[in-house]
Order: sequence, then structure tokens, then C-alpha cells
Amino acid sequence: MISIEEMRQSVKGEILIGVPMSEHTSFKIGGNADFVIKPIDKDDAIATARYFQKKNQSFIVLGKGSNVLVSDYGLRLPVVFFEEALSKYEINGRNVYAEAGVDLQRLSVATFKHNLSGMEMLAGIPGSLGGALLMNAGAYGQEIYDNLNWVEIVGGGEKRKLKKKEIKIKYRETEFKDEVLIAAEFSLNKLDDKSYEFQKKVREENLTKRRESQPLSMPNAGCIFKNVIIDDKIVSAGRLIDQCGLKGLKVGQAMVSEKHANFIVNLGNAKADDVVKLIQTIKAKVKAQHQVSLALEIKMMGFEDLNIQNLTG
Ligand code: EPU
Repeated sequence: MISIEEMRQSVKGEILIGVPMSEHTSFKIGGNADFVIKPIDKDDAIATARYFQKKNQSFIVLGKGSNVLVSDYGLRLPVVFFEEALSKYEINGRNVYAEAGVDLQRLSVATFKHNLSGMEMLAGIPGSLGGALLMNAGAYGQEIYDNLNWVEIVGGGEKRKLKKKEIKIKYRETEFKDEVLIAAEFSLNKLDDKSYEFQKKVREENLTKRRESQPLSMPNAGCIFKNVIIDDKIVSAGRLIDQCGLKGLKVGQAMVSEKHANFIVNLGNAKADDVVKLIQTIKAKVKAQHQVSLALEIKMMGFEDLNIQNLTG
């Protein structure tokens, strides 16, 4: 049982009751979260994570809510929003310190403006640095872990610093499960004027390409499925879904994007249930046509009753 009185003794931030997750996710979908906690600063964020971990109380960390599908029935576990508490970054020469709630887009732009290379291609990825680190986000040949020195986490109730070589990193996946990402440090590469201009052009082209090929003006959760690795080559899940002719397929107000088949868009009032049905259909069609099992890239939250194995496997 969670006691708000008890929580207030360890946590300084606001504790809110009954918060609609449709207002806190980029998909604009999801029922109410019973408890939402908003720590006020880094120390409070660490204290909050330690409090729950020491009690063995599961909880959900949300950054920008950009890569998640929350169930229509909402969330019974406490939800912690770290965006405000963990929003600092500093650039010193080649070194970049950033807290987990920092907007990845903002960090990408800021580092590039400092003539630093290593994160400039990540500008189009929605979400926070913490989310990007948890899932090893990447775009156009760059991955968030490329230039990492260390991450600071809270795990098992204790704060720890891990060097890059101590972290198991895979394609769009890390070993982090119950750990909470707090901050990270990177050493990026200095660009001379010529390389800066070149990178600037590539970066702008990529951003334009993304705007043209992704449904960025409609509520969505980014790519729904991970790309697939076949014979050591990355195969676009979007392309596989497209080849099944599924663009434009609708369930209720959820639709497979006409622009990029690995996106589902919310046409207005989509329910999580509509999205789940679309996901099931896409998986079945891709399996039948390509003999490939697509795995989810988005995180499903609050679906304890659903056989998630059927969706993720
Ligand atoms: N394609 C199609 N039909 C589609 C979508 C794509 O034929 O509906 C083809 C494209 O024409 C292209 C190829 O598939 O030839 C690859 O497409 P794209 O460049 O869009 O890349 P992607 O592999 O589908 C990945 C990431 C995106 C990221 C882009 C650009 C994953 C699962 N997807 O998509 O990330 O924005 O590269 O870097 O890693 C996300 O993480 O949320 C996401 C969308």
C-alpha cells in the first residue's frame, strides 16, 4: 500500500491524484494515473527513486511520454515525472553533462551550436535523454551511447555511476530495467569549420527527410516496432508493414500512418484498445507475409491483464 503521508516525508515534490495520462503522452491516449509525483530537483529525484526502491514498490518513470502507450484504464502504480527536476545540462569544451529529463532535441541543438559532433543527428528524436539512454535511441548512424563517458543511476535503492564499458548495450536496448537514469556525461568531438558546415548540411537534410517521411503533426508515439535484424542487416519495420499494404488501416480513431507505416497516429479520440488491435493485426500480417515477428519499440503501460507476450514476442 502506498501511503501519501509517508511519501510526503521522503519526497519534497508535488503529489497529484488522478492525473489523465492522455495529457502527458505524445499519443494523447491513456486513462488516469492514481498517483503522480513531481520531484523538485535532482536530490529530490534521487530521494524519490530510493524511497520506492527501498520499499520494493514498483513505479513508473515518465519523461516526455513520447514512446509509450498507456492503457485506457490508466495506471495503478505511482508515476514519477522527472522532467522538471532533471532538466540541467552543461557544456564544457568537449564535455557535456546532462540530466535525464533534458529534452533530447534541445541537447542535440545545443551541442551542435557549440561545434560539437556526436548528437546532431538525434535532433529529430522526440523524448528525454533518460528515455533515449534506456532504449539506446539512435538515428542516421548515431546512437546515444556512442560518446558516453558515464551514467548516474539509482538502482536497488542506491545511487551509482556506471562507465560505458560497464553497461550492456544492444540495438535499441539496454540492460536497464528497474534502474532510474539520473544524469550522464559525454565527450563529443570538436568540429572544425569545414566539417561543421558539412555536418550542418547533412543534419538539415535528415531533418527535412524526417519531416517529409514521418507524421510529425499528428499525435503519435514514434516508431511502434523495432527494426529487424536479418543476416546482420537492419531491415526497416516500416518497409515490411508498408509492403503488406497496411498504410491507412484504421481501428476506431487509430490509423497506420499514410506517411510511415511504422507509425500509428491518433486521429482525435483514439483509445489504447484501438491501438492494441492495430498492433495485433500488423504483427499477424507481417508474420504471414514476411515470416518476421515484429517486436514493440514503444512501452506498454497499465496492460497487466493483456497477454503482452503475444504483442512483444
Ligand atoms: N519505408 C517504406 N515505407 C514506409 C517507411 C519506410 O518503404 O512506410 C522505407 C523507406 O523508403 C526507406 C527505408 O524503409 O527506404 C527506411 O526508412 P526510414 O529512413 O524512415 O527509417 P526506418 O528504419 O523506418 C528508423 C528509426 C526511426 C528514425 C529513422 C530515421 C527505428 C525502429 N526506426 O526508421 O526512429 O526516425 O530511422 O533515422 O529504429 C523512432 O525511434 O521512434 C523512430 C521512428
